[in-house]
Amino acid sequence: MKSLELLLLPLLLILKDVSAQWNVWMPRDISAMTNSCVVIPCSFTYPSGVRPYRGIHGIWYFGHPYPQLFPPVVYKSRTDIVHESYKGRTKLLGDLTQKNCTLMINNVGVEHSGRYYFRADLGGANIYTFPDFTKLQVLDQPNIDVPEEIVSDQSLDLTCYVPDNCPDMSPQIQWMYTEDLPNPLFTPDNVEDSNTAVLSSTLTFTPKPMHNGQRLGCRVHYENTTFVYERLISLDIKYAPRFAWVNVSQEVMEGSSVVLHCDVDSNPTPKITWYFGDTELMSEVASNSSLPLDNLTPEEDGVYTCVGDNGYGSMNASMYLAVNYPPREPWINESLTVLEGSSVALQCISKGNPMPTLTWLKDGKLVGTITAEEGSVLELQEVTPQDHGVYRCLAENEHGRASNSLNITVEFAPVLLDDSKCTIVREGVQCVCIASGNPEPVIEFFLPDLNITINDYNNTFNYHTYSDGYTSTGIIKLQDKGERGNNGDTAVHVHCSISNTYGSETIPLGLQQEKKFMMAVIVGTIGGVAVIAFIIAAVRYVGQNNKKETTVITNLLAQLQAWRGKS
Ligand SMILES: *[C@@H]1O[C@H](CO)[C@@H](O)[C@H](O)[C@H]1NC(C)=O
Ligand SMILES: *[C@@H]1O[C@H](CO)[C@@H](O)[C@H](O)[C@H]1NC(C)=O
Ligand SMILES: *[C@@H]1O[C@H](CO)[C@@H](O)[C@H](O)[C@H]1NC(C)=O
Ligand SMILES: *[C@@H]1O[C@H](CO)[C@@H](O)[C@H](O)[C@H]1NC(C)=O
Ligand SMILES: *[C@@H]1O[C@H](CO)[C@@H](O)[C@H](O)[C@H]1NC(C)=O
Ligand SMILES: *[C@@H]1O[C@H](CO)[C@@H](O)[C@H](O)[C@H]1NC(C)=O
Ligand SMILES: *[C@@H]1O[C@H](CO)[C@@H](O)[C@H](O)[C@H]1NC(C)=O
Ligand SMILES: *[C@@H]1O[C@H](CO)[C@@H](O)[C@H](O)[C@H]1NC(C)=O
Ligand SMILES: *[C@@H]1O[C@H](CO)[C@@H](O)[C@H](O)[C@H]1NC(C)=O
Repeated sequence: MKSLELLLLPLLLILKDVSAQWNVWMPRDISAMTNSCVVIPCSFTYPSGVRPYRGIHGIWYFGHPYPQLFPPVVYKSRTDIVHESYKGRTKLLGDLTQKNCTLMINNVGVEHSGRYYFRADLGGANIYTFPDFTKLQVLDQPNIDVPEEIVSDQSLDLTCYVPDNCPDMSPQIQWMYTEDLPNPLFTPDNVEDSNTAVLSSTLTFTPKPMHNGQRLGCRVHYENTTFVYERLISLDIKYAPRFAWVNVSQEVMEGSSVVLHCDVDSNPTPKITWYFGDTELMSEVASNSSLPLDNLTPEEDGVYTCVGDNGYGSMNASMYLAVNYPPREPWINESLTVLEGSSVALQCISKGNPMPTLTWLKDGKLVGTITAEEGSVLELQEVTPQDHGVYRCLAENEHGRASNSLNITVEFAPVLLDDSKCTIVREGVQCVCIASGNPEPVIEFFLPDLNITINDYNNTFNYHTYSDGYTSTGIIKLQDKGERGNNGDTAVHVHCSISNTYGSETIPLGLQQEKKFMMAVIVGTIGGVAVIAFIIAAVRYVGQNNKKETTVITNLLAQLQAWRGKS
């Protein structure tokens, strides 16, 4: 305790000393509404040694404290002479003898804003202008305290202030345009600080994005007057993107051009970034953004996303852009040559959007199944010569069709065809040997009775061959005499040999209708009526055996008659 007293004592002495000097106390700042009044509280001290001579007088100056600079006189206790702009407006409320210099200014205007100095006049040389002053601010609007940043969904306090330094007039504060606010709360308050009073009203609510840009007002009214003061503000409410909009998914044809559009609602304006899949395409700071896509290719088919981000949050929207195109020319295997009996799998692959259906055609006829996959496989098991042909794979979708083909060539061992035979002709016997095979078969004849081989190298008996695709034909002609053999009408034996890489075969050729033809030829050479008689007899003879042969002989008869006519 003792030590505290020792500390305080010098301080009190200084304070006592101060009170015994020229000193003034008035608020540093004070404010008032236009047309209202203001009371500037003021008190002063003078040195205790000074004896006032003929009372205590005082002067209030505006702007400067020193009379030498002729500042406008606001109030003067000795006379009524005041500056024009203060005429009839000022009144000293304080009692100067009580060292109370409290001043009232009525009907203040903006022009009265400024510094007010007090000068004490105690008579004689004891005139003193105090350097301290009050700065008056005359307002024509109340003040609203708005936080620097207002964020959506966070509780907000807005305070409207109005000075309350006029004892005759009491202000009333009202908030305007609060009808749409969610649960607004109004808290009045009266703050007194340094003998100046401020009336306030705090509006509390939680703003939503929809309140961005909303006007709010604070209205001040003095009872029993027509004076009204209003201040309007517009809310700037920051909010994360509320929604992002992008075009609905759609289908377009390749080669076409589209413009995608994205709208993002946020405050402040977002940065809109476009993505194709994970690839960033472009970005810009705007509330909406257009993405032009020209001459679309199938590679641009996919998901497009627009992301809006403004630092308070982000939001995105996506759409699927389907780029349609007709099927591309299918990829298929190269043309193939396969050995009969083996198996092959043919593959066809085509792209298109929508996915094309794949169809296999062989020589224009449907084979296999129709598939709606990217690839189709046609399997040919144990290939036969009939599998030879043109295989076409046809890809179709609603936008078009495309196809590609391959040839399958089947290789096979020679096969003797039914038309192979020997027949009697005018000059003798003609033998024809026909065989199919791939590679084309080589045809040779062999006359076992004569031990003669007839082929390209030993080319006798009018031997000639020709080939037509995979069919080879060989022909020889045996003359009437000699080659028919030594034992007269007995037919000479002719063998046909067919061969290629995959096989060879030797087959005896039958002489068609051997006996009867032989007879016919022999008889034919003799000529005359006897021929006919003979043939009739032959017909009878044959007729007993076989009905079918009858017709053959009848034909032969006709031929013989024609032949005779010519010779
Ligand atoms: C000065 O005078 C005013 C007006 O009469 C009064 O309200 C105030 O209380 C006085 N101040 C002091 C310090 O007495
Ligand atoms: C306003 O006028 C009414 C009626 O004349 C009176 O009762 C009331 O006290 C006045 N209010 C003020 C603040 O002067
Ligand atoms: C996307 O939407 C915008 C705005 O509605 C429109 O102008 C544009 O044509 C649309 N784009 C497509 C590809 O539909
Ligand atoms: C797109 O944004 C611009 C400014 O960024 C604006 O002028 C225009 O009205 C907006 N368009 C749409 C459709 O929102
Ligand atoms: C889009 O938003 C979803 C959730 O709303 C999020 O999971 C996704 O990562 C976002 N995509 C992008 C590209 O920002
Ligand atoms: C056809 O092509 C496919 C794919 O290259 C291959 O797997 C298949 O063996 C080919 N088929 C034939 C018969 O060559
Ligand atoms: C298939 O063979 C035909 C002739 O038979 C030919 O015109 C065509 O070019 C061949 N195709 C291929 C793909 O080799
Ligand atoms: C057939 O002719 C060949 C020679 O060309 C000979 O070697 C062979 O012995 C002959 N065969 C007969 C049965 O005459
Ligand atoms: C070739 O043909 C002649 C008859 O023209 C025959 O004599 C000869 O034996 C034949 N040669 C062979 C190798 O068959």
